[in-house]
Amino acid sequence: MSNNMFTHEPVMLTEILDVFSGLSGGVFLDATLGGAGHAHAVLEAHPNIELLGIDRDEHALAFARERLSVFSERVTLRHARFDRIAEVLTQTNTHSLAGVLFDLGVSSPQLDHADRGFSYRHDSPLDMRMDQSQSFSALQVVNEFSAENLVQILKENADERFAGRIAKAIVRSRPIHTTLELAEVVITAIPAAARRRGGHPAKRTFQAIRIEVNHELAVLPIALSSAIDALAPGARLAVLTYHSGEDRITKSIMRDAETGGCTCPATLPCVCGRKALVRRVRTPKTPSDAEQAVNRRSTAARLRVVERLDSGMEM
Ligand SMILES: C[S@@+](CC[C@H](N)C(=O)[O-])C[C@H]1O[C@@H](n2cnc3c(N)ncnc32)[C@H](O)[C@@H]1O
Repeated sequence: MSNNMFTHEPVMLTEILDVFSGLSGGVFLDATLGGAGHAHAVLEAHPNIELLGIDRDEHALAFARERLSVFSERVTLRHARFDRIAEVLTQTNTHSLAGVLFDLGVSSPQLDHADRGFSYRHDSPLDMRMDQSQSFSALQVVNEFSAENLVQILKENADERFAGRIAKAIVRSRPIHTTLELAEVVITAIPAAARRRGGHPAKRTFQAIRIEVNHELAVLPIALSSAIDALAPGARLAVLTYHSGEDRITKSIMRDAETGGCTCPATLPCVCGRKALVRRVRTPKTPSDAEQAVNRRSTAARLRVVERLDSGMEM
């Protein structure tokens, strides 16, 4: 994939810039750098900020490096999975963070470039690895997982109503080598009346398999907790999610940090001594109608933001 073919519209850019309008110095972490749309805007708006950018996709990093070259003195990029934030901070000698952004999921080029094997619209070998140095790919999930396992990931990762029928059809049709073969198997497994509702019939199956291949939900809790731990007092963490699984995990990690894990009854004084680490910041939760009208991929976005308290507050 050539670098000039990387186009990805940053989602809720105005709202994200608002969330981070108070930045005055220090290191800003973009944990899902992608095409660096958000990162570029943050660097432009805040001349005193340094950027640490992480992505597990080498193609995205190569593009971002080029795009951010005008700011090169303020930019450090690392090829890493975001649950390794703590390690990356140690390696880069970063002691605390002035702000953190997670813009979860896939970028437009990952979906649009046929050779990445993510899309039910273009034919290519089944792949779906964000990090191409990893060996586990969609080929194994589709051809080696048991029907029970497939049902579980279709339900958990994509709320697929027809999980049982799709899983049986996949197992029956093996071996399946390409994206279009898989899409066809899924389409024929879904009752005809349901195929006409709710977008492409294979969309949820592809999402579920992609999430499994990249362990997207498994690595999220540790990544968000490490980010909260590294925030400087007053610094903010913003997370853009694109489906219910990601949003549930984000909400739960943020709620735990907001209560500090305190479960004392609300009507009685706290006796457990746990401390709140963050407070919730109220922001628009979804993209404006205008943004949704011009950027189809923004429609599923949900924004959640917390701000680190001074040093933990008694509950
Ligand atoms: C939605 S895109 C980010 C787009 C970016 N905000 C922009 O404005 O161009 C998500 C990016 O996060 C990366 N990513 C997803 N999960 C990751 C993980 N666990 N660790 C590191 N990078 C990840 C993907 O490779 C992809 O490039």
